[in-house]
Amino acid sequence: MRVLVVTGAGISAESGIPTFRGTGGYWRNLDPTKLATQSAFDSDPEIVWQWYRERRDMIRRAEPNEAHRAVAKLSAAADEFFLLTQNVDDLHDRADWNGYRIPEDQIAHVHGDIFTTKCERGDYTRLESTDDDLKNVRNGVPMCPTCGARMRPGVVWFGEGLDPRIVARADNFVRARPCDAVIVVGTTVAFDYIVHWTRLAAGRRGRIIEINPDDQFLGALNAEWVREPAAKGLPRLVDELTSRRYS
Ligand code: OAD
Repeated sequence: MRVLVVTGAGISAESGIPTFRGTGGYWRNLDPTKLATQSAFDSDPEIVWQWYRERRDMIRRAEPNEAHRAVAKLSAAADEFFLLTQNVDDLHDRADWNGYRIPEDQIAHVHGDIFTTKCERGDYTRLESTDDDLKNVRNGVPMCPTCGARMRPGVVWFGEGLDPRIVARADNFVRARPCDAVIVVGTTVAFDYIVHWTRLAAGRRGRIIEINPDDQFLGALNAEWVREPAAKGLPRLVDELTSRRYS
């Protein structure tokens, strides 16, 4: 079985991480889709950093849910597996199924990693998975220790291009051979590249299965729609797909 899983903010909703769009998405009356932009950072870097620090704290305290564990199970059971996640949290990386975690080379964080802080001007980058480094902070904004420029979260903002190394890894997997199943979970599928990878991966015969309790976005690709929250619908689907191997 060859499988591609594509995830969005909805898969982490049941771990307590608010999604970008929809109920609970707003933060202090601000729209996250406007905060995650270069122009928001240019006009008020402090507020943008406050939002990211709160999200980092929330993610550090959060635990992977049954849906993240089901993805790990699928990774263990499939002959060939790849996960494209739009999420900048690390819940997929921490999720385990009977002690098994998804290998790093099977996960691509398309929109980056929230715990990375990078210099706006140069190459300096650091990881802050356990705690934010509050040294060199001016008005709530960390400054680069090597060149003094502002530092920003190492995530992809709206209007920015993707990391070409991530694009290459995704392309390699989806172009190699068609998948038996492409499972798309908890996303509004707002980006053309997500539709493109889904379509290419499924080829002419692969199933496309969308899990979302509220809406369907891939009807045009003839996707099957599992209208349930991820932590309910995904474990059941994974049990079905893997039943032959584990029965
Ligand atoms: P969105 O916030 O746009 O969409 C989350 C989706 O999850 C919605 O369609 C919800 O209906 C659905 N949902 C909510 N609860 C769910 C649950 N328990 N189980 C399954 N689905 C659920 O998030 P994304 O599509 O991930 O990009 O957004 C994509 C990108 O836009 C993000 O990576 C980020 C964002 O702005 C950048 O920052 C560039």
